[in-house]
Amino acid sequence: MIIAPSLLAADFTRLGREAARAQRSGADWLHLDIMDGQFVPNISFGPDVVAAVRPHAKKLFFDVHLMCLKPEILLEPFARAGAEEIIVHVELGDRVGPLLWKIRALGLKVGLALNPPTSIAEVQPYLDKIDLLLVMTVNPGFGGQSFIHECLPKIQQADAWRRDRKLGYRLEVDGGINNETAAECARAGADTFVAGTALFRQRNMGAAIRRMRQAALDHKPSVADLQR
Ligand code: DX5
Ligand code: ZN
Repeated sequence: MIIAPSLLAADFTRLGREAARAQRSGADWLHLDIMDGQFVPNISFGPDVVAAVRPHAKKLFFDVHLMCLKPEILLEPFARAGAEEIIVHVELGDRVGPLLWKIRALGLKVGLALNPPTSIAEVQPYLDKIDLLLVMTVNPGFGGQSFIHECLPKIQQADAWRRDRKLGYRLEVDGGINNETAAECARAGADTFVAGTALFRQRNMGAAIRRMRQAALDHKPSVADLQR
């Protein structure tokens, strides 16, 4: 079970030290939310900030979530900045295929995301081309929102396809993730958990990460569950 704190909830006056705190606290990945004010109604930070943070958390896997209308112009700058995975949104339509190819060609891991209103059927054509599927559990654009429970069946469906087709993509959830919702998502098949408020806003981040990981592990479906 991968725990990925979202830097969007960190103290913006000291992003490098916050990334180092996440690494010291036992996080596996750092989730970096890139918002352009067009694809989503908010603006966060760009490649220069990611490059500045990179040396402070050398051991963390940099999971870059592009909520941008023109990701084509951003792939190389984020690759240079230290991204190890880039996630684009399936709502970009017929530009998705070429985008996934370009991310792969840059030597990075390939992620695909879908928003709560989007049908899980939209991602089917790409499942054998990705390393990670991100099921958004809030409408993207802001941290601190409430988890949308109607997204759980999409996680179950994506997990069933993964098993039936013997595919290896990770199943990531993002938005309103805390110990309770992480447990529900794990039961549905998720294995990668993005959390901003529930981790960066905790004084003892290490304890918060351990609790979230245990909550997910305790609710991971057993082989018997999956055969039922
Ligand atoms: C929202 C972002 C999330 C967000 C999560 O658009 O993609 O990563 O930062 O924050 P919390 O965990 O506070 O909902
Ligand atoms: Zn995100």
